[in-house]
This record gives sequence, structure tokens and C-alpha cells, in this order.
Amino acid sequence: MPPAVFLTRRIPEQARALLDAAADVRAWDREEPPVPRDVLYDAVAEAEGLYCLLTDAVDAELLAAAPRLRAVSTMAVGYDNIDVAACTRRGIPVCNTPGVLTEATADLAFALLMAAARRVPEAERYLREGRWRTWSPMLLAGQDVHGRTIGIVGAGRIGQAVGARARGFGMEVLYTARSPKPDFEAACQARRCASLDELLAAADFVTLHAPLTPETRHMIGGRELARMKPTAVLVNTARGPLVDEAALQRALAEERIWAAGLDVFEREPATPEHPLLRLPNVVTLPHIGSATVATRTAMAVLAAENLVAALQGRRPPACVNPEVLAG
Ligand code: NAP
Ligand code: GLV
Repeated sequence: MPPAVFLTRRIPEQARALLDAAADVRAWDREEPPVPRDVLYDAVAEAEGLYCLLTDAVDAELLAAAPRLRAVSTMAVGYDNIDVAACTRRGIPVCNTPGVLTEATADLAFALLMAAARRVPEAERYLREGRWRTWSPMLLAGQDVHGRTIGIVGAGRIGQAVGARARGFGMEVLYTARSPKPDFEAACQARRCASLDELLAAADFVTLHAPLTPETRHMIGGRELARMKPTAVLVNTARGPLVDEAALQRALAEERIWAAGLDVFEREPATPEHPLLRLPNVVTLPHIGSATVATRTAMAVLAAENLVAALQGRRPPACVNPEVLAG
């Protein structure tokens, strides 16, 4: 009998075909809304495999409702929505999609950086609203990008890919990470800062690429924002809760930093009433860091390959708790 799999959203056909060939798939086959919790609980009662998204909380309560679960695969690289420790205690592999989304997400981080520095959405609104009367010396003047200093918080796969782009703009590259990155230092003439405070004080652009963990939650708050330059731009394409949004809103409203480019929020989806969306010096996007057709398809396929391999007792291409795998 093929294993029972529950799929929490509509995914690209190529990935769905991989699942259908190997499993008995039940699905919440829609783009939106997300699967209601009662439907999910009902479905996981029988499921051996769960294919989920970052919008699905795979917590202790859900795991308790899933007695037959043998594998969890998320179509994302971040897995802060999953209680990995609880899965590990039950011997359940948790799989994710590292690598295939690195370049697309780095592209988007750089797009936000440039849009915030050069006030691109604000300038477009100005034109579309019929406010353009004449060329003026300081009209909509922004901050230089070329030749400035970028501070990468979390120089992993995506952080390093942003660093490579920054070198192309002649930027000086600073970074933090838990461990040194000698290859990155050599390739991008990057320098590891002794502390986050050192990076914040020196950088013209601070870009966040660390995962959401208990250590990184609110790693950028009022104290950290006060250490940044008044001309600095903060970019967050990692996870919203890395930043204390109330403190960021105050810093931007009082022009204590120049601007922010945000793809992620503490609570998603953010609504138009969100205080950060009312500020002219904020460029915002609805969590689309990896959203290109090719990248989302590659993520969906990798997540399917991970789940099928785990359910068939093979080593999945990407597993965050490999200690549960046999051999
Ligand atoms: P990664 O390769 O694991 O990189 C994460 C980096 O963060 C690592 O270098 C790690 O250091 C560092 N780090 C961990 N804790 C830290 C701390 N307390 N202070 C400073 N650095 C710390 O992951 P990735 O593939 O680049 O992805 C990074 C994150 O981006 C994901 O977790 C996800 O949340 C987010 N993301 C968002 C989107 C989007 O659509 N907006 C798309 C993709 C990913 P070590 O290397 O020394 O361990
Ligand atoms: C997206 O946010 C991801 O973690 O892949």
C-alpha cells in the first residue's frame, strides 16, 4: 500500500506528480486560504507523510494528532514553524529546501536594498499622483549604494550570495555568523565583525539573513537601531520576528535611520493598517523572497523528493535532523 500523505496547499504540477506516483495523496488543493486547522487535524490522523508550507504550524499539538506520521517536508528553507525537537524525539525526519532558493532570495534582498536607498516606490508614487512639477536639485534624493559598506547579519547561503552582489557594486562587506567563513572572506574580501554592535555602527546597509531561533528573536530592537547610522538602511528578508517592529517603527518615524526594506513581518499576512506600511521610508513586500517561477518550482520538487525518499526509507536530499535517519 502506498503511504498516506497530506499536502497542505496546491503546488506546481511537476511536484504533485512526484507525490502522486509514490503516495496516496490527500490535499488542501487551493492557492488560498491556508488549510483550516480542523481540516489539517482531521487529515493528519491518518497521514504518514506531511508536505507543508511555512504558514503551517507543525507544533506539539499537531504532532499529537498525527500518530502515524513518519516524515515532514516543508517547501521552505526556514523551519521555525516546525517543532523539530519534538519530531526528533519521535524519530520523524524534518526536510526543507536549502540552496535552490539562495540566488532568487539574494536578488530580492538586493532589490529591496536599492529600492529603499533610492526611494524608488516613493518616487513612483510621486509621479503617478501628478505631483511632479519640475526637476529640482534635491528632489527625492536618496543614499548612494556603490562604494558604501554592507553589514550581513548571518552570512550563510543567502547572506553570502548578497555579499557577492554587493562586491559587484564596489561595496565593503562586513558580516556576522556563528562561525568564521574563510572562503567568503577570500571571495568577497569580507571581514567578520567581533560583534553585532560593531557591524551596526559601521554599516550603511544592514541586511538580515539569520534563521528565526530563540537567540535571534528581536535581535534588532531599540538598542541596536540606536547604534545604526542616521543614513543607514535596514533590510529584512529573513523572518519578521528578528526585528522588534514597534522599535523599528519609532526609529523610522523619528528618522533615526534612513529607511527599511521589508519582505517579512512579525505577524503575517500584514494588512494595510500596519503602522510600518504608513511610513514613506519603508519599502514592503508580501514575503516573496524566493518567488520566481523557476525557484518556486524547484522548491516544490525538492520538497516532494524529500518526502518520498523519507517515506521509502531512503536518505532525503535535505534533512534538518539527520540523526533520526538510519545508517
Ligand atoms: P543558512 O545558510 O543556514 O544561513 C543562516 C546563517 O545565519 C548562518 O551563516 C548562521 O551562522 C547564521 N546565524 C545563525 N544564528 C545566528 C546569530 N545568532 N547571529 C548571526 N548569525 C547567525 O540559511 P539560508 O539558506 O541562508 O537562509 C537564511 C534564512 O532566510 C532562512 O532561515 C529563512 O528564514 C530566510 N529566508 C527567507 C526567504 C524569504 O522568502 N523572505 C527565502 C529564503 C530564506 P553559521 O553558518 O555560523 O551557523
Ligand atoms: C522562505 O521564507 C523560506 O524560508 O524558504
